[in-house]
Amino acid sequence: MLRKIVKYGDPVLETVCDPVPESEFGTPELRSLVQDMFETMYRAQGIGLAAPQIGIPRRLTVIDCSGGEGEREQHVLINPEIVFEDGSQVGEEGCLSIPGFRENVKRPATVRTRARTPDGERIEIEAEELLARAICHENDHLNGVLFLDHLSRLKRQIIRRKIRNLRKRGEWD
Ligand code: NI
Repeated sequence: MLRKIVKYGDPVLETVCDPVPESEFGTPELRSLVQDMFETMYRAQGIGLAAPQIGIPRRLTVIDCSGGEGEREQHVLINPEIVFEDGSQVGEEGCLSIPGFRENVKRPATVRTRARTPDGERIEIEAEELLARAICHENDHLNGVLFLDHLSRLKRQIIRRKIRNLRKRGEWD
């Protein structure tokens, strides 16, 4: 089922999300939420989506850097923790909750992340390049942090002003 992606300005995007509780692992509800998130992400042509972006303040993200084209490479990270990061990379980033805006953001070159699967299994993945960037971006969402927060104050103000104008014209819902 497609979910509505909330846009910048909704307070849920600036909320520190709660962990998925132990009792929800392995449940059909959690599995169908994950399915909905992938479906919603692919439809929007994104490579990552965090639960707060569909209005659910839980520590759950889905990522597929293939964008649903060719061979899929699905990652589900529940209650993730970045346990190691190294180096740096600068690259263009966007966000499904801030459509139409892309900016260069500095991220670690390599990250190692511990997380749980929908069945509650503990996993650890090491990622670099685009996947490392996506993991950092999605993990930020769980802490109420957006890519705008990594920009200079000036750039952030310019984007905020543009979004305010879009909202006034009813083009930001
Ligand atoms: Ni995002």
